[in-house]
Amino acid sequence: MSYRFDVLTLFPALFDGLRQESLIGKALETQIISLALHNWRAFATDRHSTVDDAPFGGGAGLVLKPDPLVKCLRAEVPADSRKILLSPSGRRFDQKLAQQWSQLSGITLICGRYEGFDQRIEAHVDEVVSIGDFVLNGGEVAAMAVMEAVARLLPGVIGNAESLTEESFADGLLEYPQFTRPRDFEGQTVPDVLLSGNHAAIAQWRLEQRMARTRAVRPDLLREPVTK
Ligand code: ADE
Repeated sequence: MSYRFDVLTLFPALFDGLRQESLIGKALETQIISLALHNWRAFATDRHSTVDDAPFGGGAGLVLKPDPLVKCLRAEVPADSRKILLSPSGRRFDQKLAQQWSQLSGITLICGRYEGFDQRIEAHVDEVVSIGDFVLNGGEVAAMAVMEAVARLLPGVIGNAESLTEESFADGLLEYPQFTRPRDFEGQTVPDVLLSGNHAAIAQWRLEQRMARTRAVRPDLLREPVTK
């Protein structure tokens, strides 16, 4: 059974590149995942297929109307799929959430647009999630980021499963620096320990590097409890 991604978007063509190229493209081809795109404009009932309207109380921009979106969810998305609304006002997405969601049979990602969505839509989703403290013009790029983070954790998507346990965040620390040939690049040389063949010393050096890098650029990660 494929892991099923459902995506609600008013701009399905934005997903064309993702479907053809990249890790997602390959996982679709091998049927490890499936992707169903739903344009909820099809569920608008007026002559102009309106999906947004002016906010009650006034204010800038248009707000996504609840009815066409919720109708689309009911009609086209499996009832047991975890429904995630992408919004800068949501809980922060992280590797732990990606891991949790990769254990499910699929997720539904709902991409907002314009200035926001009618608050009553939240009653029809399981979670509201943000990919970071910045504002995108819509949820599509955020949905793609979530899809990639989840898909690469599924068995068979990444050739070398070991790289999953070694990478940044797998145990709450950032990754150690990596080097490949040449040994000397314009005067920058590879640390001697990596050429020593001493595996214990290399492991020790890498752990120290991870701690130092995490302390320097992401001290907040050291304060979080380590869960695995
Ligand atoms: N939509 C707009 N900005 C977003 C963000 N930072 N995360 C998720 N969805 C968004």
